[in-house]
Amino acid sequence: MKLTIEPSEAAFDLAAAQRIVNQIKEKKNSVIGLSTGRTTGNMHRKVVQLHQEEPFDVSPATFFGVDEVVGVPREYAGACYTMLRTELADGLGISDEHLLMLPTQSDDYPAACRQFQAELQARGGIDLLILGLGENGHLGFNQPGTPFGSVTWISRMDETLDARIRRESGSAPDADLGGFTIGIRNIMMSRRVILAANGSNKTEIVHKALYGPVTTEVPASVLQLHPFAEAILDPDAAEKLPAEG
Ligand code: GLP
Repeated sequence: MKLTIEPSEAAFDLAAAQRIVNQIKEKKNSVIGLSTGRTTGNMHRKVVQLHQEEPFDVSPATFFGVDEVVGVPREYAGACYTMLRTELADGLGISDEHLLMLPTQSDDYPAACRQFQAELQARGGIDLLILGLGENGHLGFNQPGTPFGSVTWISRMDETLDARIRRESGSAPDADLGGFTIGIRNIMMSRRVILAANGSNKTEIVHKALYGPVTTEVPASVLQLHPFAEAILDPDAAEKLPAEG
């Protein structure tokens, strides 16, 4: 896996944002998957800023969310749809036609998974994926133990996130929450993947994902087998890596 260590958090945001911008400049109708969370918010805002400073045509591109919370309205502030709208899509003027999201609520979840995958395929397949690294090594909502052959499905969320969403969204205690996510197989079939990690809380897992054994116990470790994967890190996340990088 290619490794890029940026000298600061701001440089990390900029480097990842530039990967997104360059992808669209190189291929106008690119299909680009985005992750939400603390890792990616500022890089999304940076994309908007770069676009404002030097406008380019984003209208043929498709953005999509690699995962989505299931069981809350999509207007809930913690839903991936709302986060991607606020952080990036509104600023770039992207319509819902070009912001594909798994539904937060559906009568038929397996059908929604199939439809989502078919839509990505119809648009040419995934050109670029930006994946945040979970503290336990998860990618999207593919938690430790997820088979590498998994395709778009509903997983569980980690307990901390589940608790936060229940608290914030006022979900009934017995409401069934979950996490829609593209699967590991979908990730591995993407043309290019960027694993983004910042902050000292990611130091241990970055080391395991990049240098540990490839195992379903650390979902991100599978990216060691991807021919065009790059890890972009800030100095804190890279702290425990061997000196030679
Ligand atoms: C969340 C999301 C992922 C995200 C990851 C890292 O649970 N499902 O898409 O990339 O965990 O989150 P954070 O960047 O907040 O550490």
